[in-house]
Amino acid sequence: MYRMYDLIEKKKNNEELSKEELRFIVEGFTNGSIPDYQMSAFLMAVYFQGMTKQETFEFTMAMKESGDELDLSQISGVKVDKHSTGGVGDKTTLVLAPMIAALKVPVAKMSGRGLGHTGGTIDKLEAFPEFMTSLSEEKFITNVNTYKIAVAGQTKNLAPADKKIYALRDATACVNSIPLIASSIMSKKLASGADGICLDVKVGSGAFMKTIEEASLLANTMLDIGKGADKQIVCVLTNMDEPLGNAVGNTLEVMEAIDALQGNGPKDLMEVVYTLGSQMLLMANAADNEEKARTLLESTISDGSAFQTFCKFVEIQGGNPKDCLHMKDLLDVSYTEEVYLDSDGFVSSIDAQKIGHASMLMGGGRANKEDVIDLSVGVVLHKKVGDRICKGDSIARVYGNDKDRLMAAINEVKEAYCLTKDEVKPNKMILNIMK
Ligand code: URA
Repeated sequence: MYRMYDLIEKKKNNEELSKEELRFIVEGFTNGSIPDYQMSAFLMAVYFQGMTKQETFEFTMAMKESGDELDLSQISGVKVDKHSTGGVGDKTTLVLAPMIAALKVPVAKMSGRGLGHTGGTIDKLEAFPEFMTSLSEEKFITNVNTYKIAVAGQTKNLAPADKKIYALRDATACVNSIPLIASSIMSKKLASGADGICLDVKVGSGAFMKTIEEASLLANTMLDIGKGADKQIVCVLTNMDEPLGNAVGNTLEVMEAIDALQGNGPKDLMEVVYTLGSQMLLMANAADNEEKARTLLESTISDGSAFQTFCKFVEIQGGNPKDCLHMKDLLDVSYTEEVYLDSDGFVSSIDAQKIGHASMLMGGGRANKEDVIDLSVGVVLHKKVGDRICKGDSIARVYGNDKDRLMAAINEVKEAYCLTKDEVKPNKMILNIMK
């Protein structure tokens, strides 16, 4: 039997904790025998001292085993999960999942809701009235076996230790620690039961990881955990120095995803979609090299099969597939306003966090987990990094339901843009692929 006091002291002094000690901490905190104040002190000690590779792995496995684990063995084929560390305007899953499913590779995806300035896939899917984001395990498995696709919110109690630890980290300024982020993400991914894991590690102003160095460290930590657990795993480092695509806001992002599935996706979004998708197809043994994988993915857009799969997916999860053709009619906003700048030049950066915040100010995101969000509000950017702006050009359109909040959002959008006199190249989207 251990004493939590001694384990905090040990971590504070930068000594390595054993598997048994880490399990004692995770199990004790989950069952309530270790109080919040001791766990907070431990997490802060981890924040400053870090964790060794072995500690990070054992901490992750203890969190993974703290609750239910999905058994996807009844789904035939190689199941590859995709996860993003969180970005602004990130509708990648909405585009990628039907493309992969259209190639008959199973997509069994557990998704989350958004918190703060980043959005979650489950909220976006609720833009379809009657869409069921909660599926029984049986229905989830049947849908994947029959239609190759299911995307649902977490119903089972996956990694409850992470949920409790994350809430404490959030309240005690301990979110931004690489071993804690890596173990948090990986405990949930490992409990979700996929054979392969494709991680989109966002880098830049709108992401947890602001620099490529930090993001590489996070990616390496997650790769070590995944390999230690005998999973296929790849990390793609992608740019989040500006929002992904043009739309930010739930219904607006679904509209953009549908445009993308119909062949009209913004270039930056499609680059991320094709790169992640290629890695997923390679892991599922559905293509033997990246070039062939990309060609296969492109064919799902040009032959319409990805869009058809998306419509079917909406239907089997309770939505009306006809909405996919008339998404605009579901936008319920009282005000739309164009945004203008007083200067001209080339766009050198667009602070993604500020754009996410603008949408949140209008009710499009949650400050607290319990907040109800307005699915229709948001921002559509007309100008991206590298574009030229002349006075009088609209840089963006904001969609809102409250005049004062809309005005505040307009100011936030204006502040997000930086211009220079010199020509600027568009952002490079794929920063690294790490395996
Ligand atoms: N996403 C997670 O799931 N956990 C973290 O700690 C950070 C991002």
